[in-house]
Amino acid sequence: MRCTVFGTGYLGATHAAGMAELGHEVVGVDIDPDKIAKLSGGEVPFYEPALREMLQRNISAGRLRFTTDYAEAAESADVHFLGVGTPQKKGEYAADLRHVYNVVDTLVPLLRRPAVVVGKSTVPVGTAADLGERAAALAPAGIRVEVAWNPEFLREGLAVQDTLHPDRIVLGVQRDSQLAEAALRELYAPILANGVPFLLTDLQTAELVKVSANAFLATKISFINAISEVCEAVDADVTLLADALGYDARIGRRFLNAGLGFGGGCLPKDIRAFMARAGELGANHALTFLREVDSINMRRRSRMVELTTGACGGSLLGANIAVLGAAFKPESDDVRDSPALNVAGLLQLNGATVNVYDPKAMENSRSVFPTLNYSTSAIEACDRADAALVLTEWAEFVDLDPETLAGTVRAKVVVDGRNCLDASRWRQAGWRVYALGRPIGEPTAA
Ligand code: UGA
Repeated sequence: MRCTVFGTGYLGATHAAGMAELGHEVVGVDIDPDKIAKLSGGEVPFYEPALREMLQRNISAGRLRFTTDYAEAAESADVHFLGVGTPQKKGEYAADLRHVYNVVDTLVPLLRRPAVVVGKSTVPVGTAADLGERAAALAPAGIRVEVAWNPEFLREGLAVQDTLHPDRIVLGVQRDSQLAEAALRELYAPILANGVPFLLTDLQTAELVKVSANAFLATKISFINAISEVCEAVDADVTLLADALGYDARIGRRFLNAGLGFGGGCLPKDIRAFMARAGELGANHALTFLREVDSINMRRRSRMVELTTGACGGSLLGANIAVLGAAFKPESDDVRDSPALNVAGLLQLNGATVNVYDPKAMENSRSVFPTLNYSTSAIEACDRADAALVLTEWAEFVDLDPETLAGTVRAKVVVDGRNCLDASRWRQAGWRVYALGRPIGEPTAA
């Protein structure tokens, strides 16, 4: 089959390459000529494991190409996916939908055959129905244009795997839909053949599934972080507690890692947009708990600064701090709303000299926080450090050898912001180990 994907960011580029991998002929479309030039040359403009290989394989096979030309894209397929960004509006909680509307407004008048516009972006409930009416009004006379919603659940860092092997496929269709279900079942046939559940819903349910999923995940993380605050008050250990909770299959251990909390381009803005939308719908009481989820999460960042201040003897003035990790999570170069980078900035504001190292997110970090110092390796960042902070759990940091690092730092103090280090190993190498939600680990050797 043939399809297009509008928007070539984390979501759109992965989806375009994924659709081609399934054997379809795909055109990726973006208004940014630089992105299109890179992608056409087989280069991914961000870091995502295995995506480059999948992209290049499908470009070479002649199944995947990229363009900025909407008319060419409109001509080339009958299913048009929409994967543009829906960031938080400046100064308010609501989502900025201008990119979504721009695609529909530009694409639909160019359609010459019946078509389905399939939204994948995360949008406030009601957007798809509104876009459906708009598409019907903008479509050339006699051309049927349907809007459907097929939310995307992929995680950055695992985007390729999640695209080809999703947990489920959700498709919301218009009440009078004739084209969408058949078209999507055919497009996703290789995935459905593996037994992946396909849920057909109305538009508003499909939109709500996505934001509810992210709200649940955010709540799970903030739940364990709230318990972590109580653990800190009584010197209990939140990681042992989470392990014990996790054995209950109704609770589960996944997404129960206490630490610096959630960030990135999705969870924080999605729970805020969800609250804003519920308010518009007169259901704001239903989601006031998400405000608490958000504030527990943001408190983690200031708590990390307090913990580091304590670890440095009560003041950050003149302290030399190594920050290991800047991306919002490992296997990503994304620093949007990154807790790690946020903490690095706060430490500097409090008078510390901050040396940041991240395996992939250096360039993005520099453009957001140009005044921090950036090192070329973990060891270099730790040079004469008064404290080494692990703020993103890259395998490279989890595997650091505390014996080797001991010869580099000024004080053997490590602060584990993600509860990812083997504390006993560090203590045995003479380090004092600080962590969120756990008692201070005193060195067991000199
Ligand atoms: C999230 C969802 O997991 C995806 O299902 C969804 O498709 C995506 O948002 C989206 O809406 O596009 P992502 O933002 O890539 O995916 O990252 P997650 O793996 O969900 O992690 C989010 C944040 O939570 C990270 O900062 C991570 O460090 C933090 N986290 C995660 C914790 O603090 N504790 C945990 O136990 C798990």
